[in-house]
Amino acid sequence: MPRDHHVRRALALQRDPSLPPSLELSEGLCPILRPDGAMKERLERHEPPLPVCPGGGCAVRRFFERAAEEGAAVELDIGAGYGRFSRGHAAANPGVRLLAIEQEEARVARTDVTARRMGLRNVAYLNAEMRYALEYCVPAGSVSAAFVLFPDPWPKDRHARLRFFRRPNIDLVHRLLRPGGALHAATDNAAYFAQMLEVMGADDRFEPIAPYVRGPDERTDFERKFLDQGRTVHAASWRRR
Ligand SMILES: C[S@@+](CC[C@H](N)C(=O)[O-])C[C@H]1O[C@@H](n2cnc3c(N)ncnc32)[C@H](O)[C@@H]1O
Repeated sequence: MPRDHHVRRALALQRDPSLPPSLELSEGLCPILRPDGAMKERLERHEPPLPVCPGGGCAVRRFFERAAEEGAAVELDIGAGYGRFSRGHAAANPGVRLLAIEQEEARVARTDVTARRMGLRNVAYLNAEMRYALEYCVPAGSVSAAFVLFPDPWPKDRHARLRFFRRPNIDLVHRLLRPGGALHAATDNAAYFAQMLEVMGADDRFEPIAPYVRGPDERTDFERKFLDQGRTVHAASWRRR
């Protein structure tokens, strides 16, 4: 299918040879992260035999191997959007390696370009379905903190199954966090916030901790929009026991 004009434009910007090198993970991803129809069906059905990420043959795995060699903590931004949080957080935490996952190709390309223009070398952008990345390619116990900021609220009841804060996704987060690792969430949607507290409160693998306080440069694009509209931001954090 032909790509939209704005996607093609974003991808062209990303190829500008005058930009500093990219940590964007579009090359060398394993078939799990670039699934064809048959692979997608297997992943969605979740039927054994489950696919296996080919270790060093996958750019995400290599990202984690390099971080381990450097002794750097890895953090995740899940559903990174236009990337403002990831850039602010990476700039404020140069010792951290941040992997920002986002399904929208143009958003990834644009924030990758902005991060490179800023000279950031500790954030990598992954254009992929987060469920596949978290389940198959992020090594177990490898992540110090995961941020889920302003996830899609899916306000209609019939869409509630698409919300991030449900047990299957929390199982994925539990698998990838190291013991003591943290999950940080924020939303402007009071009903969804109540659901977050309920889901996490019922899960004794986690305990609540003081909410992560984001600095001004870590406020996300969606958050800025919501604050301009006078909405309240709710935030909570939990630690893997
Ligand atoms: C409401 S936006 C918030 C973006 C950003 N965190 C912020 O606060 O500005 C939610 C983002 O999550 C992304 N997203 C939703 N489901 C996803 C999935 N399954 N895999 C990867 N990205 C996803 C959407 O494309 C969107 O950019």
